[in-house]
Amino acid sequence: MPTVRDVRDNTGDEPITMLTAYDAPTAAIVDQAGVDVILVGDSVGNTTLGYETTLPVTVEDTLRHVGAVVRATEDALVVADMPFLSFGVDDAESLENAGRMLKEAGATAVKLESGPHTIELTEKMVQLGIPVMAHLGLTPQHVNQYGGFPRQGTDEESARRILELAEAHADAGAFALILEHVPSNVAAQVTDAIDIPTIGIGAGPSCDGQVLVFHDVVGLSEWSPSFSKQFGDVKAAMKSAVDEYVNSVEDGTFPGDEHSYEQSDLDRIY
Ligand code: KIV
Repeated sequence: MPTVRDVRDNTGDEPITMLTAYDAPTAAIVDQAGVDVILVGDSVGNTTLGYETTLPVTVEDTLRHVGAVVRATEDALVVADMPFLSFGVDDAESLENAGRMLKEAGATAVKLESGPHTIELTEKMVQLGIPVMAHLGLTPQHVNQYGGFPRQGTDEESARRILELAEAHADAGAFALILEHVPSNVAAQVTDAIDIPTIGIGAGPSCDGQVLVFHDVVGLSEWSPSFSKQFGDVKAAMKSAVDEYVNSVEDGTFPGDEHSYEQSDLDRIY
């Protein structure tokens, strides 16, 4: 089982594999495939709970999903994504919410969508024993501020800002950094500049690892970003199984003898 330390020390060795999962059966599949880190992303809001954005996801939602993933995971490191406004407003509340992910749900670490406001908070969490994964570039909890999900770090000033924040979070004790939707040459420079691993999503091949959303990978999403890749068509397989079930009930071929039984002494009950 990779520890936070194993991940932190893995800069430039074997690429780190990371994928989201939100429930026990998919976590078991992801874990058994040998993925190093499972993120219970706040993308649970879009992928699983039917919201348009991640903003409505609550601490209670996250605890429930992290618990399910932890129970089904034997090897991977499980990271809980802190939902919108569950951190950063008030320090005591942030620490308490993050602590619940470890104490109640069994996560090993938390992820914070990061910015200037999370540098000191990261340091405090780490000092208290809550490992923190930082997240820079596109931070989807800012969707209303961005007016969508645009690329980040595309001019010198914003690229430099990402680099400075990456260094500040590494210094504050974050054990890894997600870089989302930034040019690959910017991600490469950040990766070179800091001594913790970068894990990219839409950030090119130079990061120390890669993360994607489970539903995008297996082909279950209604929509997925251009930087993602679909590696399978689970939706088609599920649809075909459900169609076949409906047809079998309707044409009377299910349930057959092999799915039914009789109790011989109950021939007359009326
Ligand atoms: O919530 C999520 O799934 C994420 C990943 C896309 C990094 O934050």
